[in-house]
Amino acid sequence: MHINPLEKKWLYLAVGMVTLLVAAIVYTALEHNIHPPSHVETIDSAKLHLGGEFAEDKLGVTSQADGGVRVTLVAGRYGFYPRRIEVPAGRPVTFRIASMDVLHGVHVPMTNMSTMVVPGYVAQLTTVFPRPGEYPMLCNEYCGMGHDHMWSRLTVVSADNWHPGK
Ligand code: CUA
Repeated sequence: MHINPLEKKWLYLAVGMVTLLVAAIVYTALEHNIHPPSHVETIDSAKLHLGGEFAEDKLGVTSQADGGVRVTLVAGRYGFYPRRIEVPAGRPVTFRIASMDVLHGVHVPMTNMSTMVVPGYVAQLTTVFPRPGEYPMLCNEYCGMGHDHMWSRLTVVSADNWHPGK
């Protein structure tokens, strides 16, 4: 089969551009540690309050022996509970989030903290917040009439000023 030389050039150009774009996506994903939060762990969403990790008195921020911080949250119409959490800057923060009702999403703008919270599953992700500041934790999956108002406050403080249990 004969291919016109000019057409061949455009073909190479197109394949080159596709390769370049795919390489850019893979590079940024690796560089910024972006990955799908596909943590497959099931839980009975209707029984969160009855005990275990997602019972009300177990929620919040705890310091871990490995130097990391764990944040346990329940997402429900319309908020992430507890409503205010405080984490240290520069330390790995592992979120574990379960929904008590419907599908929610949680997103902290200007950071890579973002995941869906699917009822029946524990959403887990680990990230580091480099800078202290006040951030909203927004719901980004439509979950009902109050969806627009579903947010909680995340405060990142310098590691020296951070005390567990807040
Ligand atoms: Cu929860 Cu939208």
